[in-house]
Amino acid sequence: MKVGIIGLGYVGLTLVVVAASKGIDVYGVEVNAHIKDCLKNDKAHFYEEGLDNLIKRTNNKTLHIVDEFPLDVKYDAFIVTVGTPLKGGLKVPNFEYIKSAMLSIRNVYDGSELIILRSTVSVGTTRNVILPFLMNMCGKEENELLVSMCPERTLEGKAVYELTHLPQVISGNNAESVEVAQKIFRKITPCIIEAESLEEAELIKLYCNTYRDMTFAIGNAFCMAAQKFNVDGSKVIEHANYGYARSNIAKPGFVAGPCLEKDAYILINNMPECSSKEFILAARQFNESLEDMVVQWVQNKIGAPDDNKVIALSGMAFKGQPETSDLRGSSSVYIAEKLKAAGYKMNLHDFCALPEEMEALKLGTYFHDLYDACSKASLLLVLNNHKKYASVMSNASLLYSKNGFEILDSWGACTELYYSNDVKISTLGNMFN
Ligand SMILES: NC(=O)c1ccc[n+]([C@@H]2O[C@H](COP(=O)([O-])OP(=O)(O)OC[C@H]3O[C@@H](n4cnc5c(N)ncnc54)[C@H](O)[C@@H]3O)[C@@H](O)[C@H]2O)c1
Repeated sequence: MKVGIIGLGYVGLTLVVVAASKGIDVYGVEVNAHIKDCLKNDKAHFYEEGLDNLIKRTNNKTLHIVDEFPLDVKYDAFIVTVGTPLKGGLKVPNFEYIKSAMLSIRNVYDGSELIILRSTVSVGTTRNVILPFLMNMCGKEENELLVSMCPERTLEGKAVYELTHLPQVISGNNAESVEVAQKIFRKITPCIIEAESLEEAELIKLYCNTYRDMTFAIGNAFCMAAQKFNVDGSKVIEHANYGYARSNIAKPGFVAGPCLEKDAYILINNMPECSSKEFILAARQFNESLEDMVVQWVQNKIGAPDDNKVIALSGMAFKGQPETSDLRGSSSVYIAEKLKAAGYKMNLHDFCALPEEMEALKLGTYFHDLYDACSKASLLLVLNNHKKYASVMSNASLLYSKNGFEILDSWGACTELYYSNDVKISTLGNMFN
């Protein structure tokens, strides 16, 4: 099979490489020069377990990174994997990249190839945006074209494994579209779920992520409510869940990253006004409000900013487990932006994020070493749950045991070992007690 993929970001690159490793002849195009340079050196532009090895194995064999799709290849399908971010400052999605992606195939697409949309979109986008665009492009009727929505549901940090193990949702505008999509994804993963319509496939993706968002919102809301009764919000959740299968309340924490920060908004974008919409929005906004609570905690602890007050922020990637270098949509970055706007000076650290990307944030001084980041700081905010905090922090209490130094261990990532009398540690569960 021969497949073209447009957009080699987190989703496109993992898919193109895994597909190539399964013997599909894949042609990938990408507009970002840095990404293409990395690939020339057999490397991904981000950290993802197992990905670089697969790139090495497949590059220039079944994996072809090209500037434009070669004209002499007969493609079975094109897969669109470009980003669908929210419009700057607004909470509405921007689907312009999808249109630009479809323009990039105009010289090689004749209306007979399947177009698979993999990006996350609002319900109805495949039928009402993609199909008319393609009809215009090749002058064919809707029922002559093959269009499919096959959403991506992998977890960053585990994408290479999950692409070949998760059930793949497929859909199509007609039976032939479904059949071609089946053929492609059967080569990649054993379990295929056929959605009843393009809209159902769009909704499945949005429900999966919004469900996670809302589940976490319950944990966060319970955590903050407990503190109003002077009860530790993390402990009450831990104890409510312990040995009691009917309680599975989420641990409090930031709900962030390039998908969760936007997918609830993509879902409600064109949803008619209704109480479901308000419910979904309230959950999303509650999760976002955690960032302001951290800023409030800082202000409570050290008061107004001045030149002698430095705050160390560690865990800038949007999550620590599975490990990722991805800074997009990270609550840690949003917290740093808010602290900077309030006038605080910051030292920044992360165990996995790339130094050049940390420096490009321009939110504070970047430190490779966590101890160095803390050495002149009054507070440390541990903002993701990277596994290294457990061991690194347990050896560090002496370094930090200076007057007034405090830590907000937002994920409870530091082990009890580290909880010495010298340093006061708060969690999201007791930050306002
Ligand atoms: N990141 C995830 O783990 C994840 C998981 C599931 C779904 N998704 C969804 O998948 C989509 C892609 O996400 P992502 O994280 O890979 O985004 P991304 O921004 O990392 O990747 C998109 C890539 O497409 C490239 N691009 C844009 N227009 C192009 C064009 N016309 N031609 C060629 N390349 C072009 C960009 O340069 C970029 O590298 C989004 O809709 C996202 O919501 C992401």
